[in-house]
Amino acid sequence: MASLTRKNWDSAYAKLKSALKSADPAQAADLDALEKIRLRFLGRKGSLTELLKNLKDLPLKERRELGPQAQARRGALEEKIAARKAQLETQADAAALSESSLDLTLPAFMPARGRLHPLTQTISEMAKILSLMGFSWAEGPLVESEYYNFEALNIPAHHPARDLQDTFYLEDPPLVMRTHTSAVQIRAMESSRPPLRIICPGRVFRNEEVDATHSAVFHQVEGLAVDKNITFADLKGTLDLFLKRLFGPDTRTRFIPSYFPFTEPSAQVDVGCLFCSGSGCSVCKQSGWIEMLGAGVVNPNVFKFVNYDPEAWSGFAFGIGVERVAMLRLGIKDIRDFYENDMRFLSQFDESLI
Ligand code: PHE
Repeated sequence: MASLTRKNWDSAYAKLKSALKSADPAQAADLDALEKIRLRFLGRKGSLTELLKNLKDLPLKERRELGPQAQARRGALEEKIAARKAQLETQADAAALSESSLDLTLPAFMPARGRLHPLTQTISEMAKILSLMGFSWAEGPLVESEYYNFEALNIPAHHPARDLQDTFYLEDPPLVMRTHTSAVQIRAMESSRPPLRIICPGRVFRNEEVDATHSAVFHQVEGLAVDKNITFADLKGTLDLFLKRLFGPDTRTRFIPSYFPFTEPSAQVDVGCLFCSGSGCSVCKQSGWIEMLGAGVVNPNVFKFVNYDPEAWSGFAFGIGVERVAMLRLGIKDIRDFYENDMRFLSQFDESLI
């Protein structure tokens, strides 16, 4: 269409209108047919595009009259094409889905979710309770010198307590696998001044015959508080509250005289049997009580090793076996289950159960 007159434009426009009538986008059978319609009218060389381009050759007055008409027609056509396109695409998706063998209503595979080992969960729970009472977490090496494991805890060489603990000895260099985490308490006292409140959770080693309730490798949480005027009453109050938080508010506790070289006086702490409430059952061996902790007031001799003045400071210490707590709380009958890493066992213990 070279330089345009009004008459030419009118006739081209009339032609366009009748062409549009016979090419209704709503009737396009598929996306290809629809694209053909779009190109025919709205493509770079499309008839409506051309018409709009040539509008500039007409006088201003006519441009004002005809321009909006043609623009409106273009807008309407674009809308119709877009609507039909969306419709055809939806139909194509539905057809593809009905042909495919995918069943989107099937449940998805659950991703395998990791969880903490029941012993780790139990340690965290104990640490949480004790941290609310002001104790902070301390760690030390698993392989210890005899000094930290025994001597500084007032267990001199040839003291029978060294045998009581069934120690694993390393020959060269002469070290021991730590038999309790009390060794960490000495290290902690050496490196900071009192007052002090720490717990020492961790793995310990004893040359034990392995059976349903004994393991050569097990875990402890030991605690130590040092301050001015700490007495046995502080120990009693702390452990009574700790055990009630751990096993439930109705838990009964009792303190029986005992012996540890590093505490004086010392106590064994029992809880009223959680299974028979004291009437006697197989778990408590008909006694109504379960042995839970070793504890006591820190022996002044221990303070001398770490240069704490026993006249100025006093303290209490306690140690509790993690496996025993976990077995009681979770109803586990055999300690060996903790170490076999059988997923059928481990997957039963969700954090939420603890
Ligand atoms: N260390 C002792 C043990 O392993 C437990 C204990 C800790 C006892 C602190 C008294 C005070 O058996």
